[in-house]
Amino acid sequence: MGPEVLELEQQLAGFTGARHCISCANGTDALQMALRAREIGPGDAVIVPAFTFVAAAETVSLVGATPVFADVREEDFNLDPESIRPALAAARAAGLRPAGIIAVDLFGQPADYGRLEAIAEEEGLFLIADAAQSFGSALDGKRAGRFGHVTATSFFPSKPLGCYGDGGALFTDDDELAAILRSLRQHGQGEDRYDHQRVGINGRLDSIQAAVLLAKLETFGEEIVARQEVADEYGRALSAVAAVPVLRTGASSVWAQYTIRVLERDRVAAALKADGIPTAIHYPRPLHHQPAYAGSPIAATGLARSERLAGEVLSLPMHAYLDLATQDHIVASLHRAVGGTGLGRAASGYR
Ligand SMILES: Cc1ncc(COP(=O)(O)O)c(C=O)c1O
Repeated sequence: MGPEVLELEQQLAGFTGARHCISCANGTDALQMALRAREIGPGDAVIVPAFTFVAAAETVSLVGATPVFADVREEDFNLDPESIRPALAAARAAGLRPAGIIAVDLFGQPADYGRLEAIAEEEGLFLIADAAQSFGSALDGKRAGRFGHVTATSFFPSKPLGCYGDGGALFTDDDELAAILRSLRQHGQGEDRYDHQRVGINGRLDSIQAAVLLAKLETFGEEIVARQEVADEYGRALSAVAAVPVLRTGASSVWAQYTIRVLERDRVAAALKADGIPTAIHYPRPLHHQPAYAGSPIAATGLARSERLAGEVLSLPMHAYLDLATQDHIVASLHRAVGGTGLGRAASGYR
């Protein structure tokens, strides 16, 4: 929490346009702090997408509340607003009080905040935007950090803006919420260091990580452009043989992952590996099928898309410094693996 931390918070607030930036130790703490700031706890239900990284469900459970899983949309992998009310119905049927939504901007593109914010308002729900994968993206002219009541993000090294260890931050325009978050970060501190107004955590960001982020912020804008160029090239070269990700109108992505959908994924991944190309599966199992969350309620309309996506997604190498020759090699390998087998999008019925 040295001077670099304060400077970073000022720069990140300026970058996003949010009134407050509260840095913290990692993205998981950021989510947990957001939930605790609203005193969400036992008996409360928080709607979480079933197809995402575990942190959203985990932090809801850590504060004693219950994650209730909603489905995602196939076209952008993000929380489906149509699934929120069926999830709320499931929460109520389980005797829980609906308290919030964690919307995750999966793989770099913001969730559909226009609709999610309207539902949150109508239902009186606290809306947390998880921008761990989307920091630097925008929706309808607003950067990630401006959506929901509060936005949480992560600076883990694999994120679009990553430090050299763990780091995270929260963004909000709400002065009161910002003050509570600052207190929670510092052991629930009140007027002075040994005045504890609430049960807090040690959520400090290291000054060294803040210094790394300040340096990396200088090139972040160029890196976002370069990532988009890599994504454009993948889209152009692969759309005939795989379901490639699409951006919704008005949305940009920072492409934390470039994730395609293919049938016979394991065979395709093995063919790429044989050509020296690493791939990853984000995420192989939807959260409601994880043993830790097996008892959680799910949307009354089911989670069919989350289940299907978990069986089809394959993330390709993606970063701002991927040169064209390497990308050509990846594309050619994927064409060989998929193209000749009738597994392409035309054959599989993908858009
Ligand atoms: C969507 C999402 N939310 C939260 C997190 C948690 O962030 P951290 O690893 O910094 O705790 C991650 C990644 O790690 C993530 O991808």
